Amino acid sequence: MVMSSEFMGHTVFLLLLSLLLVPASTHLQSNDEGHVSVLLSSKGIDFAKDVLIDKAISSMLPLQLPDIEKSVKIPLIGKVKIVLSNITIYSVEIASSYVETGETGLVLVASGATADLSMNWKYSYSTWIVVISDHGDASVQVKGMDVGFTVALKEEGGTLKVYVLDCGCHVKDISITLNGGASWLYQGLIDAFEGPIGSAVENAISKKIKEGIGKLDTRLQSLPKHFAIDHTASMNITFVDNPVLSTSSIEFEINGLFAEVDTVSVPINYYEGTWAPLACKHPDKMIEISLHEDVFNSATSVYFSTGHMLWTVDKFVDQSLLNTASWKFIYPQLYTQYPDDNMTLTITITSAPIVKIEDVGINVTIYVDVTVNVLDAGDVIPVACVSLELSNGCSPQILSNKLASDLKLKNFNMSLKWSKIGNVHMQLLQPVMHDIIESVFIPYVNLHLMRGYALPILHGFTFKNPEIQYAEAEMGICSNLAVT
Ligand SMILES: *[C@@H]1O[C@H](CO)[C@@H](O)[C@H](O)[C@H]1NC(C)=O
Ligand SMILES: *[C@@H]1O[C@H](CO)[C@@H](O)[C@H](O)[C@H]1NC(C)=O
Ligand SMILES: *[C@@H]1O[C@H](CO)[C@@H](O)[C@H](O)[C@H]1NC(C)=O
Ligand SMILES: *[C@@H]1O[C@H](CO)[C@@H](O)[C@H](O)[C@H]1NC(C)=O
Ligand SMILES: *[C@@H]1O[C@H](CO)[C@@H](O)[C@H](O)[C@H]1NC(C)=O
Repeated sequence: MVMSSEFMGHTVFLLLLSLLLVPASTHLQSNDEGHVSVLLSSKGIDFAKDVLIDKAISSMLPLQLPDIEKSVKIPLIGKVKIVLSNITIYSVEIASSYVETGETGLVLVASGATADLSMNWKYSYSTWIVVISDHGDASVQVKGMDVGFTVALKEEGGTLKVYVLDCGCHVKDISITLNGGASWLYQGLIDAFEGPIGSAVENAISKKIKEGIGKLDTRLQSLPKHFAIDHTASMNITFVDNPVLSTSSIEFEINGLFAEVDTVSVPINYYEGTWAPLACKHPDKMIEISLHEDVFNSATSVYFSTGHMLWTVDKFVDQSLLNTASWKFIYPQLYTQYPDDNMTLTITITSAPIVKIEDVGINVTIYVDVTVNVLDAGDVIPVACVSLELSNGCSPQILSNKLASDLKLKNFNMSLKWSKIGNVHMQLLQPVMHDIIESVFIPYVNLHLMRGYALPILHGFTFKNPEIQYAEAEMGICSNLAVT
């Protein structure tokens, strides 16, 4: 037997929720200290909302409600004590939802939701002679449920704080299906328990939402301020300034600079002015991450200062090149003093590579010294050193959630730094150096760069169809998102 009735519909609370949000008038503006900006477009916010709702529902169920006990006057029978216990919401279905952003926070509303509950019932009453009792179970369906909340987002002490400004749940309609029981019981339940069941559902769901957002906040507060990129470097993911909310986007800014894992020190000073994160050419992308070129320069500084930039070349495709016989004309004295000796080359990066981003692409300038060594009777003897300035094009790409890149040598110039034994013919050396740089150095660097550096901002999500864009001094990743 199924009975149902309508509650007084009052969706006023949804209206109130929306009123808390004043439409944002401020335009995106960036804090001085942020070097990475993450912007969720309205499409991204919608996507995040759907994921959030799914996660929230599955983490909240099954949801146990407190028992409800009532004495009900039943015609011809008299006073009956009815107890509903083990009231459990085991499924929630959302018909539609929307999210609205305003300057102070965001409103999320799910409407037309349906919840399925199970419960046990029992009653007892006394006649003159005996106590009569019965029990059974019932299923309840709550329909036309509206759930909404307003949260504010704030930066506090470098982390993101989320707190509930308002939260509400409103149940419109309840239907109860009893298994067993007398027919007067149905009417009794409908009359006396519909309201309390509705309220119990409303309270339980509101409470769960507040708890859930509280937990989310705790998790955000406990996030480390540094994200380990590898065992050498970490990225400072301290939030700078409040998120900027507009009707169509939410923008977060984090410091974003690389630091050494052990000392957590940033090697040099960076750009402190304002910069405008670039705008995606495709407005239908969910997320846009803008990285100021300082991020890359802090990374090269860290890797440079931790000394991960030294190579010895003792093998070559054309091994004869690593013998003084091949250097007869390039470096005559070398061959004269060390005829037919094997050689090695030591490539040292002499200062942090400089990354320059322009609207057409990325330029990386790498300064290296190539030291020429002779292997003579078991000794490694440095004989000359050449300084090179390499200009490289760099093409970053997104590999799953990592930013990988690939260097291509565009041109280089070089000069002799020192020589212990006479002159080096730089013109003749040029093609040899070119070969070594192209076939040893660049591939070696690329091997590392292509492994990629994890982007810390997207835990639980992955990029989908990312595109890379450039502007003066910044790079943008415009992408859709998918749940991992
Ligand atoms: C309470 O309800 C749950 C979910 O419907 C059910 O699995 C459980 O057996 C019930 N417990 C009692 C004591 O009836
Ligand atoms: C990390 O970034 C914050 C915000 O810009 C800054 O105050 C802090 O000094 C940075 N931490 C380190 C170790 O540089
Ligand atoms: C020089 O290098 C070649 C090739 O690696 C090797 O076969 C040869 O033994 C080396 N000569 C000496 C003297 O070490
Ligand atoms: C990179 O550097 C080269 C040479 O220094 C220069 O010609 C070029 O315009 C720069 N920019 C790009 C994106 O290649
Ligand atoms: C390369 O050329 C530039 C510009 O002429 C010069 O400043 C620089 O010192 C040169 N670098 C090397 C390593 O020769």
